[in-house]
Amino acid sequence: MNIIENLEWRYATKKFDPEKKVDEETIEKLKKAIQLSASSYGLQPYKILIIEDEALKKKLQPASWNQSQIVDCSHLFVFCSDATITDELTDDYVKLKAEVQSLDLADLQGYGDFVKKKLSEKPGHEKASWTTRQAYIALANLLVACAELKIDACPMEGFEPSQYDEILNLSKQGLKACALTTVGYRSENDTAQHQAKVRKPMEILFEKL
Ligand SMILES: Cc1cc2nc3c(=O)[nH]c(=O)nc-3n(C[C@H](O)[C@H](O)[C@H](O)COP(=O)(O)O)c2cc1C
Repeated sequence: MNIIENLEWRYATKKFDPEKKVDEETIEKLKKAIQLSASSYGLQPYKILIIEDEALKKKLQPASWNQSQIVDCSHLFVFCSDATITDELTDDYVKLKAEVQSLDLADLQGYGDFVKKKLSEKPGHEKASWTTRQAYIALANLLVACAELKIDACPMEGFEPSQYDEILNLSKQGLKACALTTVGYRSENDTAQHQAKVRKPMEILFEKL
C-alpha cells in the first residue's frame, strides 16, 4: 500500500468495535510516530495521555458530547498542550540536545537564549495557541501512522477541555487538553466507512505560482 491508498483507506471512525483491542506492540509504534513528530524549535510543548481504563473512559464520555467513540475505542489519546511557555521548556530541550548530540552545553547557550527571547515576545494568548499548534502536528502524525498500520482512528475536538482538565487533573501539571484521537477497529456497522471523501477540488486547494 502506498501513502495515498492508506490515506484514502482511513476515515474518521464513528463507530468502533468495542470487542477489538489494539495490541501493545502496535501502540508502541503509534507512540514512536508521535515522538518523532516535528515541532517548532524541537520543543514538543505537550504530553499525550493514553487512556484504556474503561471506567475513566465512561467518566470522560459526558465531557465529550456523549460521543460513542470515547467508550467503544480501544485507546483514547488525549493531546495536552503546555498551558503556557516557560523558560524551563527551552532549558530542558537544550540540555537534552547537548546530551544526545554530545555537545558542550555552553556552546548552546546563545541558541537557548535566542529561542527563549523569541518565545517570550509572543503575547499571552498566542503562547497557548502556539503550544496547541505543535500538538496538532503530533496528532496528524498519529493519524498517518494509524492509516499505515491499518488501525482505525477518529480525531476529535468535540469535547469540553475545561472538564477534561478537571477530570484528568491537568492544570496542576501545567497542561490543558487540546484535542483527542480515539484509536481502535471500526465496527462492521459503521456506515461512515462507505462514504466518499468530501474534499476541496485540487484547483481550489492549490495554486501554482
Ligand atoms: C481536529 C479535528 C476534530 C474533529 N472532531 C471530531 C469529533 O469531535 N467527532 C467526530 O466524529 N469527528 C471529528 N472529526 C472528524 C472530521 O469530521 C473528519 O476528519 C472530516 O469530516 C473528514 O473526513 P474523514 O476524516 O473521514 O476523511 C474531527 C477532525 C479533526 C481533524
